[in-house]
Amino acid sequence: MKESFVVEGLGGKRTLVGEIPVRGSKNAVLPAMASSIIFNAPLRLTNVPDIEDVYRMSELLEHLGAKTEKVKKREYVINGHDIKDSVMDEVLSKKMRASIILSGPLLARFKKVTFPHPGGCVIGARPIDLFLSGFEKMGATVDEKKESFVISAPKGLRGANIFFAIPSVTASETFIMAGVLAKGTTFLKNVALEPEITALAEFLVSCGAKIKGIGTPVLEITGTNGKLLTPKIYKTIPDRLETGSFLILAALAGKDVTITHCHPEHIEALTDLLISSGVSIEIAKSSIRVKHTEKSKLKAFNIKTHEYPGFPTDVQAPTVVYLTQVKGESFVFETIFEGRLQFTQDLVKMGADIKLWDAHRATIQGPTPLKGREVEGPDIRAGLALLVAAIIAKGTSTINSIYYIDRGYERIEERFSALGVDIKRVSGE
Ligand code: UD1
Repeated sequence: MKESFVVEGLGGKRTLVGEIPVRGSKNAVLPAMASSIIFNAPLRLTNVPDIEDVYRMSELLEHLGAKTEKVKKREYVINGHDIKDSVMDEVLSKKMRASIILSGPLLARFKKVTFPHPGGCVIGARPIDLFLSGFEKMGATVDEKKESFVISAPKGLRGANIFFAIPSVTASETFIMAGVLAKGTTFLKNVALEPEITALAEFLVSCGAKIKGIGTPVLEITGTNGKLLTPKIYKTIPDRLETGSFLILAALAGKDVTITHCHPEHIEALTDLLISSGVSIEIAKSSIRVKHTEKSKLKAFNIKTHEYPGFPTDVQAPTVVYLTQVKGESFVFETIFEGRLQFTQDLVKMGADIKLWDAHRATIQGPTPLKGREVEGPDIRAGLALLVAAIIAKGTSTINSIYYIDRGYERIEERFSALGVDIKRVSGE
């Protein structure tokens, strides 16, 4: 059954008040769930967000033979030790690109893994060359079949020197887990620096893994030669991308909004720009308060997406919505994915003045009032951005394909309603 959000927009008024807690990070918890494969006992995870991607990862692990149990609210126990099979389910794998993170731990433990090409998606082609070449460097052979890849390392993975041509987030995580179980030492170079990777590496070290250089682009991993780790409890870090989206909403429609349970230092690339744009922001240890700012005082700025600690591609879409509402011209350069500016067509339909030069570059003229419309949510982040646009627009909007929003944001309508947003989830055909 298809569901939509119907939103009664605020028509530019700034009325939202209250606190909104940030949930655990989707991009941190998915690799942590995958790590259950390299443990000798059940792994307990806390602060797990109640989102569709977590359900998909649970289903993928269960399909392989793991037992996953939601023991209480936002707490899971996953027994990955029970897994006997390393053939990943095709349908489930294709639903979520991050399924590829399972390939590293499965190959390291079972010496063989079969997975379908995760495929492109609306945000871009999303190749997997870094994964395939990395596995080959660790001694595996890659057999590309019609529908799937079969990677085999009958003698087990061996330590290798792997330089990532691009600092890929999921490739970094995959090879950290592969290196931990391999024979010998693995050097990973040009590793991505996103906090979710650091969280995974630090957690694995707390469970006995030997990883040097955490938080830097060069990691040295001494493998266990197949010996499984003993798990500790994993506590999911707050979602910095959700924090960023809430900041944008508060900056555009907030009278006095405090974003709680977050790590402000993980989203400085955005807070710094918003402060220089004129937004009144108070940053505390684990919360950010956004106070009412006269809209006419807000200024435009340019963004160029970049790997962490640069401006996150995942916050680009909501920031574009912000830029449609502030005075001046801004230039957006999306450097990571080629499909992530497509959603601007929907913003134009709502009244925004955006010129798309090519797949990576756009110019925005602001401010332009937005009008409620029926729009699609083409991916997780653009879906949320269109929801923010609907909240500030004048009139009623319907946002379709909200499965994407549910993939990454826990029951967003309840949390936004608590701030004063008029939003309903409705079921269609
Ligand atoms: C992760 C995040 C996603 C975020 C993205 C970039 C998760 C679950 N998802 O996705 O929310 O938008 O990082 O911050 O953590 N690339 C290659 N070859 C490869 C792999 C990647 O060329 O084998 C390219 C991609 O096409 C892209 C760039 O590397 O241009 C970065 O992508 P990557 O960091 O891999 O994104 P994901 O890990 O899939």
